[in-house]
Amino acid sequence: MKIIVLNGSPKGDTSVTIHSVKYLQKKFPSHEFEILNIAKRIKGIERRPATFDGIIADITAADGVLWAFPLYLLLVPARLKRFIELIYERGAQAAFAGKYTAAISTSIHFCDHIAHRYIQGICDDLDMKFTASFSADMMDLIDECERERLTQFGSFFLEAIQHQHPSLKRFQPLEWQDFDYQPGEGLHSIEVGDKKVLVITDAHPEDNNLRRMVDRFRTSFVSDIEVANLNDLKIVSSCIGCLQCGYDNECAFSGRDDYNAFYRDKVLKADVLIFAGRMTDRHLSALWKTYFDRSFFMGHFPSLIGKQLGFIISGPLSSNGNLREFFESYAGWQHVNIIGFVTDELENSQEIDLQLQELARRGIEFARSGYVQPATFLGVGAHKVFRDDVWGRLRTVFQADHRAYKESGWYDFPMWDVPTHLMAAMGSVGMNIPVIREQIQEMLQHGVSFRHRKIVEKA
Ligand SMILES: Cc1cc2nc3c(=O)[nH]c(=O)nc-3n(C[C@H](O)[C@H](O)[C@H](O)COP(=O)(O)O)c2cc1C
Repeated sequence: MKIIVLNGSPKGDTSVTIHSVKYLQKKFPSHEFEILNIAKRIKGIERRPATFDGIIADITAADGVLWAFPLYLLLVPARLKRFIELIYERGAQAAFAGKYTAAISTSIHFCDHIAHRYIQGICDDLDMKFTASFSADMMDLIDECERERLTQFGSFFLEAIQHQHPSLKRFQPLEWQDFDYQPGEGLHSIEVGDKKVLVITDAHPEDNNLRRMVDRFRTSFVSDIEVANLNDLKIVSSCIGCLQCGYDNECAFSGRDDYNAFYRDKVLKADVLIFAGRMTDRHLSALWKTYFDRSFFMGHFPSLIGKQLGFIISGPLSSNGNLREFFESYAGWQHVNIIGFVTDELENSQEIDLQLQELARRGIEFARSGYVQPATFLGVGAHKVFRDDVWGRLRTVFQADHRAYKESGWYDFPMWDVPTHLMAAMGSVGMNIPVIREQIQEMLQHGVSFRHRKIVEKA
């Protein structure tokens, strides 16, 4: 059988992910795995229709399609996202319909589930037969047990094709509405004061609802706020994963385009950030994904701590929980405060006006009070994953992160918390002595809120 591998890593043949595929090539020599370096060659693929058509012809002739990608900023890299957009823009969906497919990625497991859900959603939309997701850690191939697991995945996928097993669909198609938002007069009522509001959008002239929502949001304020359109920035490339930024947060593209200066001079200086975009397939556009990917030059340490973040989205966000989770996970990792999501799904212009006005009000109010909601699992989990990896295996390359973690006291490992460590050690000994165990258990009957009670009494 012939499997077409769509390589979503900008690194092409030197990609970590593609080595797992090369391992499968060796394990299953009677099948052909043809690797196409989609992400590395995306500019040529987009520019030369014959190249794109050649890829589509390969897919048409194949028995199966394997999506292989690294995690880039909670999703697939922008370049693979762009390829997916081209499938729709050039009407190539038929080549994928009915084709058996699977997805393999490598990462450090930060939001890998979001990327895999995204790819499965795309496969379901394309009416492919999705068999399995395989999300490996970037070092898994070194481990014998993990190689065995990879081989099992490979045989599961190949057997599904051979025996024509039914696939299990996960996602319903998204329903796009045909609603024309007509904004009312802006209220011009919110004082910005010394706070900076920045709206980042990728709206094209034809994105009527998005453009109008941004304009209406803008006119909530007494004075003008800044609106930056990503289409107006010169961005020569999305992130290519060269990791040069790891040492000192200096991007290899710095000085060659506008991105890094924009991020440092505008994004980092804003108090209230609004991300405004139109849904394109199951995410925002590849240009928006480029914005996210290029922000990797700031490393794993959050660069937006304490800011207010709102979203203005055109498209069916409420039936796309995965995209919402992308936004919430990004916000959790960045330790920002989500002020809300406004979409055009309401199909009621007055209601949208009200919500945009409220988004503006909350942004300024919370920026003034400095309120940031407590982290959920999405923020707490992100902190622990990055803390451990920056301290450990990533430290050599990500020196800038290491310095930031040290300086900000973010290396908060539990074993370095001496009082807790001592208490736990003594408590563990005590629990082995029946009398003391009884006393501790008695204390637990009255709850663990002893210190909380004291705080409340004092308040
Ligand atoms: C720009 C960039 C963004 C990344 N974002 C994530 C991420 O969100 N989650 C994660 O677990 N790993 C992330 N990683 C780590 C890569 O997914 C990981 O190193 C992967 O193995 C690289 O595979 P490749 O060599 O095939 O490109 C990121 C790496 C880069 C360079």
